[in-house]
Amino acid sequence: MSGTERFVSFEGIEGSGKSTQVKLLGDFLRAGGHDVLETLEPGGTNIGLKIRKLLLEPENHMDPVAELLLYCSSRVQHAREVIYPAIQRGAIVITDRFTDSTVAYQGFARGVNMKVINTINEIVVPELKPGLTFLLDLDVEEGLRRNRNAQKMDRFELETIEFHNRVRKGFLQIARHEPERIKVIDASRSAEEVSREIIKIVDKLWH
Ligand code: TMP
Repeated sequence: MSGTERFVSFEGIEGSGKSTQVKLLGDFLRAGGHDVLETLEPGGTNIGLKIRKLLLEPENHMDPVAELLLYCSSRVQHAREVIYPAIQRGAIVITDRFTDSTVAYQGFARGVNMKVINTINEIVVPELKPGLTFLLDLDVEEGLRRNRNAQKMDRFELETIEFHNRVRKGFLQIARHEPERIKVIDASRSAEEVSREIIKIVDKLWH
């Protein structure tokens, strides 16, 4: 396995159910006696949560490179303050989004140069790569509908359908290049069904 073995990320478009699945997998692993840290990006630290607010407030019209650098600022703080120490103490770390989100959103959807994104990610989190990633794949309109129903309306939810389709296609392209690490999961099903599939994969890989 090329990434950090017990470092798991969840990725996907808006409304794909990542936060629910992070929690369900965390609960399952804790019930099995594991030390588990659940975290999220942008966020995961006090500074990260402040950066998250700046990034998601609908009134902030932001340059794409400024946006990229803010996501990466949140990430470096998150990695140094939270992720590396947890991995060092032997915990399983589950994060709601990581570097693939930057490639999908700032790269594929916003059009920032991929070489720039990859170089910055290398500077920000050298040698830190999830060993396992679940890509929760879902129709874009369905995802946005779910979030509207949950009254979630941030700067990204206000983007066009075309933008979100570029994100979805970007994620699928990343997954095609790294099929070992990234498991594509059909997220149109119920949370329970999705969780059962995820747990089956984790069980098979780790036992
Ligand atoms: P969410 O965690 O509630 O999905 O919101 C985070 C938003 O930030 C989501 O729209 C995806 C976006 N995002 C990026 O554009 N780049 C990134 O690197 C990350 C981590 C998130």
